[in-house]
Amino acid sequence: MTLELVPKTTPEALEEGIRRIEWARAHMGVLGAIRTRFEEERPFEGLRVGMALHVEAKTCNLALALAAGGADVRLAGCNPDSTDDRVVVAMNEHYGLPTSAKKGQNRDEYYASLHWVLDHKPHLVIDDGGDLGFLAHTDRIDVREHILGGAEETTTGVIRFQAMADEGKLTFPVMNVNDALMKHLFDNRYGTGQSTFDGLFHATNLVIAGKTLVVAGYGWCGRGIAMRAKGLGADVIVTEIDPVKAIEARMDGHRVMTMEAAAPHADFVVTATGCKDVIDARHVGLLKDRCVMANAGHFDNEIDKPSLEKDAATIETVREGVTAYTQRDGRVLYLISEGRLVNLASGQGHPVEVMDTSFAVQALGLEHMAKNHEAMDPGVYNIPDEVDQEIAKLRLAVLGITIDELTPEQKEYLEAWEHGT
Ligand code: ADE
Repeated sequence: MTLELVPKTTPEALEEGIRRIEWARAHMGVLGAIRTRFEEERPFEGLRVGMALHVEAKTCNLALALAAGGADVRLAGCNPDSTDDRVVVAMNEHYGLPTSAKKGQNRDEYYASLHWVLDHKPHLVIDDGGDLGFLAHTDRIDVREHILGGAEETTTGVIRFQAMADEGKLTFPVMNVNDALMKHLFDNRYGTGQSTFDGLFHATNLVIAGKTLVVAGYGWCGRGIAMRAKGLGADVIVTEIDPVKAIEARMDGHRVMTMEAAAPHADFVVTATGCKDVIDARHVGLLKDRCVMANAGHFDNEIDKPSLEKDAATIETVREGVTAYTQRDGRVLYLISEGRLVNLASGQGHPVEVMDTSFAVQALGLEHMAKNHEAMDPGVYNIPDEVDQEIAKLRLAVLGITIDELTPEQKEYLEAWEHGT
């Protein structure tokens, strides 16, 4: 069987790919400013950078910024369903960014693309979910000697790299992009909050107002989804395993209960936990007829598909991106995008301005790694506070917002401990 690693080039795909990338570029002022500085300073001169990210228009602009800084980049996807094929065509044919990704790749094709990135013997690796780094520690230990360091975009990948570090298995330093303030406060919360509904609307064309929407997980993504669902007029139920987050959800105005208790009420269930089997056989038996399920977490194991299949009389695609599992008892349960990231598989990913700051963290985090890797042991590293501050200032400048500064007296007051009642 031949593997299809890239989409076919057509003039229409090329033109639309370029348009999408340029549209994103026009709205990514922070990354644009960084790219201009990179062009002058060339922090990645002589370095090969391997990337496994969701391949879409915003991602291309990150790759362009790194290339402007001297990096020799190669890209693959980090999820078989999140690729925008038109963007891949434009990256390969117009922007000179070698890319191997195609929407709907099977497992073999997906991994072949990742191997192709590693074949380039990258000095720096960028991951979203950790698959590239994982390969470099398992099937591809041959490339490890070249790797100086990496950067990880998302919660799931950071947890994976940290687990490798805790077991003493991680062999290079990794920048934790996810936990930078300028990433998770905006990307996980407002990005996922908006793009999850972009995906749900596009896939279903159903109304949210007046419906009961269950959000599984009240991390930054779950908070954003619940907030936006409430704003759209849904009755929101949150499920959690962390008592503190459960109280936070309650005080944010949501109902909180177990998934078993929530399932019979749900018109929609959206999972955002980073854990597996959040909807399993127990819950499938309790869901009501026509419940729509979607996943906003990185991997497609939050909604257990075998549990949906187990008692299904028929399984059919009823609309692009919507699978109907008709249970033997007559209930029809809908799954969006086969349980893969709903915001990218059925939507367009996070809004452009949100990815502008997320990818600014990637770019500056990678620059930090390129400059400091020699002094860094294997491990997971926080993005320096100055990087967060710099990106926040750049974003404020883009927004045209000026903020107050401390007077010398206020500064002295904050730094002294003698002042009291
Ligand atoms: N676009 C590119 N990367 C993305 C991500 N991690 N989440 C949402 N949209 C994206």
